[in-house]
Formats: sequence, structure tokens, C-alpha cells
Amino acid sequence: MKPTFVLLFCLLGTVVNNVLAERVINELYTVVDGNKVDKATLTGFKVWRAAACDRCHGASQEGMVGPSLITSLKTLNKEEFKRTVIDGRSEKGMPSFKENSQLMDNIENLYRYLKGRSNGDILQAKVEMLN
Ligand code: HEC
Repeated sequence: MKPTFVLLFCLLGTVVNNVLAERVINELYTVVDGNKVDKATLTGFKVWRAAACDRCHGASQEGMVGPSLITSLKTLNKEEFKRTVIDGRSEKGMPSFKENSQLMDNIENLYRYLKGRSNGDILQAKVEMLN
């Protein structure tokens, strides 16, 4: 093959790769390539870490003493999610977070992030800002 053809194929490859970047956009979040997210969803991730939900639900939300939130959020709706986090279920070991103002201000963002994880659109727990 002539060098010019090789170069052309390389260029074509780059173009195709960019077009094929996996992008999921819905009313809750935008995710590119499974780990780059919009600002609100990134804030949700930061709140998840700050509130240390991972102590009980696992660093990848897959469950420890608390259940897998990947599984839970497939059936729990947004209102039920918010109720649980705000009120807790103290008799069952899930604390109330209503005194945590950072979390209360960002509960919608936390839901975006966790729903993206549960839907399988956010492929890894650690996310970064998309450009
Ligand atoms: C001290 C441990 C602990 C921490 C910290 C914790 N959880 Fe939980 N969580 C639990 C346990 C245990 C349950 C199961 C309660 C039950 O059996 O109903 C639970 C249940 C839940 C549920 C309901 C799941 C379902 O299927 O009904 C949600 C949603 C949830 N937690 C979210 C969170 C979030 C978000 C955070 C951080 C802001 C958090 N939890 C922090 C222990 C914890």
C-alpha cells in the first residue's frame, strides 16, 4: 500500500472514532464514554463521596451492609429515593441525612448520578467533567 493511502486510512480512523464516542443524553444526565458527565451529575458524584454513602453501599454502589443501589434504583422511584435519604430507616441501619445541608441542596444531583449508574449509562463509579 502507498504511504498516502496509509495516512488516509489513519485519518479516517480518527474521524470514525470521534463520531462513535458513546453519548447518552436524557432528562437527568449526559454521559460520554461511560465516565464523562455534565456538571449537575458530577456534583451528584461529589456529594455521594462527601456524604460517605460508600461506607455502607460500597465504593461502586454495588452493596455492602446496605443494599446495592444499582439494583435498588431500578425499582425505587425518585420520590421514594428522596424520602429514604431524607428520613432514613433508622431501625434498619439507614441514617437520615436531613441535617446534611450540602446533600439536601443536591439531592436531585445525587439522584442523577445514582440513576445513571443504575441504568448502566455511567460505567464506572468515578466520573469526570465532560468538555
Ligand atoms: C451506616 C450505613 C449507611 C449509610 C452511611 C448509608 N446507607 Fe443507605 N442504607 C443502609 C441500609 C442498611 C439500608 C437498607 C434499609 C432497609 O433494609 O430498608 C439502606 C437503604 C438505602 C436505600 C433504599 C434501598 C432500597 O432498596 O429500598 C437508599 C436509596 C439508600 N440507602 C441511599 C443511601 C445514600 C444516597 C446514602 C448517602 C447519602 C446512604 N444510603 C448512606 C445503610 C446506609
